[in-house]
Amino acid sequence: MNAIFYFTGTGNSLYIAKKISEKLKNCELIEIKYNQEYKINHDIVGIVFPVHAYGLQPIIKNFLKLNEIKANYKFAIANCAGGPGNTLLDLYNLNKTFNYIDYILMPENYSILKNPISKEQAIKFMENKKENLKKIITNIQNRKNYLNLNKKFIISRLFFKIINKSFIRGLKHSVKFFKVDKTKCTGCSICSKSCPMNNIEMVNNLPLWNKNCIQCFRCINICPEHTISFTPITKNRNQYINPHISPKELIPK
Ligand SMILES: Cc1cc2nc3c(=O)[nH]c(=O)nc-3n(C[C@H](O)[C@H](O)[C@H](O)COP(=O)(O)O)c2cc1C
Ligand code: SF4
Ligand code: SF4
Repeated sequence: MNAIFYFTGTGNSLYIAKKISEKLKNCELIEIKYNQEYKINHDIVGIVFPVHAYGLQPIIKNFLKLNEIKANYKFAIANCAGGPGNTLLDLYNLNKTFNYIDYILMPENYSILKNPISKEQAIKFMENKKENLKKIITNIQNRKNYLNLNKKFIISRLFFKIINKSFIRGLKHSVKFFKVDKTKCTGCSICSKSCPMNNIEMVNNLPLWNKNCIQCFRCINICPEHTISFTPITKNRNQYINPHISPKELIPK
């Protein structure tokens, strides 16, 4: 039996995990939950996750610290919109037992930085990256040993580290930046149900954010009324959910 553990904000990582699992026989897909311990003893084990602020997402760090991965072959695939920064190296430094580490480019979901592309453009974007994903899948099927650690000059690594540290430090202040347009919110609670950190309470039919946000950007992008903003910059920006993933698949079980 094989297993792929994934974490996703807006479905890109789930899309990749699904594509790999389709080609590996007897493969279960398991969502990584914060602070959860798993019994991992499989033939092939993979993890798939997004890059956040040039580094390893806290949820992935937490997963790797809590869990011993017993497997004959281990792979880790990151995905990002521009570049992985120190992510792959951070991962390797936490766990040196991976056989294969690599990354792939996917559409941007960080709407603070850039307006996410439309559904049609995202489909085209992924079509253009099809061969890259195919190559990664073939490498995994062939149990290739390869570590793409994206090693850069020390000065770039330092830059990535500073950005990542300030991002991680700032996470607890995220709550200040969420706003909901009360005139448009229907109280459907999809934002609350979909948060992987269980960080959104519904109070008087309106979402209320707590302090455990990891900025996965799911709530902002999944709201059917497009009524959640994170700083005024995101207010008039597109929403992004991977076009091959249904919002229902992003609601934690
Ligand atoms: C908070 C945050 C930080 C991000 N930082 C980076 C980054 O440093 N480099 C990059 O190339 N993409 C970055 N991205 C973009 C995502 O890594 C990319 O869109 C990814 O495919 C999203 O995957 P998901 O849908 O599985 O969450 C960031 C996204 C978010 C939400
Ligand atoms: S998902 Fe949107 S409409 Fe539904 S409760 Fe949350 S903010 Fe309101
Ligand atoms: S509050 Fe929103 S952005 Fe923060 S972890 Fe939950 S779903 Fe992700």
